[in-house]
Amino acid sequence: MRKKIVILGSTGSIGTQTLEIIRNFSEHFEVVALTTYSNIELFLSQVVEFRPKYVAVMEPVRAQEFKKIMPEGLELLTSTEALMELASLNEAELVVNALVGAVGLRATLAAVSSGKVLALANKESMVVGGPLVVEALKKGGKVLPVDSEHSALFQCLVGEKKEAVEKIYITGSGGPFRGRKWSELKGVGVSEALAHPRWKMGPKISIDSATLMNKGLEVIEAHFLFQIPYEKIEVVIHPESLVHGLVEFIDGSIKAQIGPADMRLPIEYALFYPQRLERVVDRLNLNHLTFHFEPPDLNNFPCLKIALEAARRGKSYPVVLNAANEVAVYSFLKEEIDFVTIPAIIEKILEDHNPVEINDLETVEKVDRLAREQAQKIIKQECGF
Ligand SMILES: NC(=O)c1ccc[n+]([C@@H]2O[C@H](COP(=O)([O-])OP(=O)(O)OC[C@H]3O[C@@H](n4cnc5c(N)ncnc54)[C@H](OP(=O)(O)O)[C@@H]3O)[C@@H](O)[C@H]2O)c1
Repeated sequence: MRKKIVILGSTGSIGTQTLEIIRNFSEHFEVVALTTYSNIELFLSQVVEFRPKYVAVMEPVRAQEFKKIMPEGLELLTSTEALMELASLNEAELVVNALVGAVGLRATLAAVSSGKVLALANKESMVVGGPLVVEALKKGGKVLPVDSEHSALFQCLVGEKKEAVEKIYITGSGGPFRGRKWSELKGVGVSEALAHPRWKMGPKISIDSATLMNKGLEVIEAHFLFQIPYEKIEVVIHPESLVHGLVEFIDGSIKAQIGPADMRLPIEYALFYPQRLERVVDRLNLNHLTFHFEPPDLNNFPCLKIALEAARRGKSYPVVLNAANEVAVYSFLKEEIDFVTIPAIIEKILEDHNPVEINDLETVEKVDRLAREQAQKIIKQECGF
C-alpha cells in the first residue's frame, strides 16, 4: 500500500527535495495534494508528473492563471483556508509542511489536531505557536522533524529517557560571515549573504543563517519539540556541517548524528520513519574528516543573542521576534535595508512589546500582525521604504 502524502510548499527548496525522494521511491507514496504560493510554472510540471487530486495556489492572481493551464480532473483550492484543509484531508496519512514563515502555523495545527503524522520543516510554526502545537499533540498526531539539527537530535534521543538528558547541542556552520566582525558587514550584498558555505536553501533561511537568527529560531523550535528547558540547549558552531546535533546524557556520554550536509537525509528519515533506506546520499569517508567546534560569537552576531533573550523571556516574545525578523529579512532581500539593520529593527520592536500569554491562535496572529506593522513602519520611517 502506498502512503498518501500531502506536501505544502512543494515548489520550495524542501518541497522539491521531498518530491525528488518520492520520485526515486514512487512505489512507497501516492501524492494526494501539492501547494505553491506563486511559482505556477514549476508547479505545473510537478502536478503533471505526480498527479495529485488536490492542489492549492495561494497567490490569487497566479491561482487564476493556473486555473487556465492546469490539467483536467484536478481540484484547485484557492481560499485562505486551503492549506488547513489540505493539512487535515481525511485521506492524508503523512503531511509535509515545507512552507516558509509563520504562515505555516495554521497548517501545522490543522495537521496535528486531525491526528496526522506531520513531517515538519516549517520551523517558524514551532517558534510562534510552540505552546499551541504542544497542547494539540496531547490529543494525538505526531511531529517528525525535518530540520537537520532537530532530525539529528530526534535520532540521538530514540530509545532514551528524557530524565537522562543533560544537554542538547544544536550545531551551525556559522554561515557565510563566520569569523567576520559585525561592523565589516555593513553594505554586504544580497548575493554574498545568500551564499551559504554548506547548504543550498531557500532565501529566507539563507539570510537567517547569515545573521545566525536561524540558530535562535532552532533553539526555540527544539525547546517545544523536545520539551527541554532552555538552560539545557546550547548552540555550537561546527564549520564542517557534518555533526548535525548532539545529546549529552547525565552519565557524561554524548551521542551525535553525523552525515553529509544534504537535506535529503533528514527528509527521507521523516518520510520513512522508523525505517531507513539504503543509499539516499553518498557515504562519508571518515578517514578524511576533521571536526571543529567553537562557541558562537554572540557579540558579532546580535541576532542570536536577541533570539536567545526572546526565548528566555517567553510568552509572546518569540512571536514578535519571528514577525520582525521575517519583515526585516524580506526587506533586506528587496535591498530596502542594510544587512546590519536587521537586528536593530527586531530589537526595537521587542523592546516596545507588552507580552501576553500564548493561549490561542487568535492571540498569536494578532501579536504577529502588530509586530509586522511596526516593523514596516520603522523601515518606512528610517529607511524611506
Ligand atoms: N531549505 C532548507 O534546506 C531548509 C533546511 C532546514 C529547514 N528549512 C525550513 O523549511 C521551511 C521551508 O524552507 P525552504 O528553504 O524550502 O523555503 P522556500 O524555498 O522559500 O520554499 C517555501 C515554499 O512555501 C511557499 N510559500 C511561500 N510563502 C507562502 C505563503 N505566504 N503562503 C503559502 N505558501 C507559501 C513557496 O511557494 P513559491 O515557490 O511560490 O514561493 C514554496 O513552495 C522553512 O521554515 C525553513 O526554515 C529549510
